[in-house]
Amino acid sequence: MNAVIDYINTGRDRFVAELKHYLAIPSISALPQHAGDVRRAADFSLDELKRVGMQHAQLFETPGNPVVYADWLGAPGAPTILFYGHYDVQPVDPLNLWTSPPFEATIRDGEIYARGSADDKGQVFMHFKAIEAHLKQTGKLPCNIKVILEGEEEVGSENLDDFVRSHKTELAADVVVISDSPMFDRGVPSICYGLRGLCYFQIDLRGTASDLHSGSFGGAVANPSFVLAQVLAQMKDRGGRIKIPGFYDDVVPLNPDERAEYEKLPFNEKRYRKELGAPKLFGESGYSTMERVWGRPTFEVNGLLSGFTGEGAKTVIPAVAMAKVSMRLAPNQAPQKIGDLFESYVKKVTPKTVDLTVTRMHGGKPWVTDYKSPYVQAAARAIEQAFGQRPVFTREGGSIPVVSTFQEVLGLPTVLFGVGLPDENAHAPNEKLDLGNFHNGIIASAMLYEQIGANGKA
Ligand code: BES
Ligand code: MN
Ligand code: MN
Repeated sequence: MNAVIDYINTGRDRFVAELKHYLAIPSISALPQHAGDVRRAADFSLDELKRVGMQHAQLFETPGNPVVYADWLGAPGAPTILFYGHYDVQPVDPLNLWTSPPFEATIRDGEIYARGSADDKGQVFMHFKAIEAHLKQTGKLPCNIKVILEGEEEVGSENLDDFVRSHKTELAADVVVISDSPMFDRGVPSICYGLRGLCYFQIDLRGTASDLHSGSFGGAVANPSFVLAQVLAQMKDRGGRIKIPGFYDDVVPLNPDERAEYEKLPFNEKRYRKELGAPKLFGESGYSTMERVWGRPTFEVNGLLSGFTGEGAKTVIPAVAMAKVSMRLAPNQAPQKIGDLFESYVKKVTPKTVDLTVTRMHGGKPWVTDYKSPYVQAAARAIEQAFGQRPVFTREGGSIPVVSTFQEVLGLPTVLFGVGLPDENAHAPNEKLDLGNFHNGIIASAMLYEQIGANGKA
């Protein structure tokens, strides 16, 4: 193992230089004009996997963006890791808020700034380099590894479930490893054992055939902007509790042990509030901030559009109003069922004065696992060796829908070991990855393969 660590230490600067090329590809899956770039990122990933010594490297075409696959299966009897990550990234707008261009990776104060640095190319690349270190230094890996990377994670993984279902044999493994999440805090490495699910909708209201003079017609018809506000106002009470009937029926309550563990985490609520720039924190009453984000469902308005929003004033009754809304789901809530409950509630609370269209968009199931399981504990040892500190166990409010698919379809547990940070600016301007964490993350990944190999199948 020392030779492998030496290789990683020696390669430190080269790895960063290589990562910059990966980050230079604007593989924005949400924007059709970047389809070519998305494909280039798939090709780059494939070439890199071949270069580090992985075998059977190939692209699997899907109706959308290709799945990148490669494996190394030279450790008979040892467990097989299925490593998952994504090579697509979020859009970069608003561009003017970036200090350096999003696709020209720039290093400032020990952090590399670029779209995809933390979410997820930087963390995927960490594993490429850990694999490289083992294979170049010893000619083998301590366990078997299959890598799959998708290019549609940021747009709802529409084709991945079908891919997993139709490639069960190729994907057979013992444990899934993913690095696509932040650690608890700077200097506090963590393993994430739970994710929320998601259920996303667009609501469109139409009041009249076209915009109207608000003097000539105000008083005669309902205003869809106002109706939308009234509809949204009925989604939650003032204590932050969601009012959709039946919404909480299936939620698994946070257990007392977990709640006690969260209390012990080094969380400074005042600093958190200040860093967010919020005058006051808000969430469901009866729960701490950590509990609200990790273990409780939410209803959020993601965007609103209606009427005149330009400079000056215009006396108009808008013809239409639109909202994008989504719910983060706690373990055991089913996106399909919650979606049905939401749809009937919206229909019930929307007055007949407007025409309502409800469009269901993507979703994903929540996930939670036992952090005492052997593979999670193997990861904890690897992280402790690499970071010099035992990781804390956390959950996250974000979603990686395929994790529950891996569980259901392949019967696999997942280890979520991420090295991002809470202030990594994922999905926002100035996304960044700490280079110290990137480096230690490569070591931790290399050690994780070692730990999993050495401990055999669980
Ligand atoms: N890497 C994130 C998921 C994540 C975020 C995990 C925060 C842990 C903490 C992933 O790329 C992501 O953004 N997922 C989307 C999923 C959606 C598009 C279905 C999300 O959470 O909004
Ligand atoms: Mn991600
Ligand atoms: Mn993301």
